[in-house]
Amino acid sequence: MENSSRRSVVGMLATGFVAFLFAPATVVGAVTAPQIRGGDVCKKLGKRLTEGNKTFECVKVGAARQWKRVKAAPPPPTTSEVRVLDSSALATGTSQNVIVTSDGRNLGVVVTRTASGVVAFNRTCTHAGALVSPGAAGQLACPAHGSVFNASTGEVIQGPAERSLTQYKASERSGGIYITL
Ligand code: FES
Repeated sequence: MENSSRRSVVGMLATGFVAFLFAPATVVGAVTAPQIRGGDVCKKLGKRLTEGNKTFECVKVGAARQWKRVKAAPPPPTTSEVRVLDSSALATGTSQNVIVTSDGRNLGVVVTRTASGVVAFNRTCTHAGALVSPGAAGQLACPAHGSVFNASTGEVIQGPAERSLTQYKASERSGGIYITL
């Protein structure tokens, strides 16, 4: 009885040991190896896959199709809307200089009310960087070398400047004028 018991225990231990030896290997918490590497063969041109922080696109290389790592698109520029004037401060056909603080910098902007709404331009003259200001009716003038710009469109009326002023998106609501930087 005792012998048969001992044999039974030894048999169970041996069976367990053999099962352990031939069991498929499993590693808990193992890091999954990447499925794609640049240069691997792909099937569908233009298809994109992202693994972790890497994005791959299927491209044609000679006669082959291969995964190629592509750089992520840069984030869109951040924009901010700033209230620059009370609506009542700007009569139709007039322009006014304002200073807008953005990212710790003071930005010179000129705002004009046209018959169809408000428009805004960067005051930096496109000739050599002096600041334009409201001049004759409907015009913005540069004191440095005499350039004149249309206050409604920013276009050059008189040189030496050759390029229009940089325009900002401008809007009006709830009694205020806003520009988007
Ligand atoms: S900087 Fe404005 S005209 Fe030269």
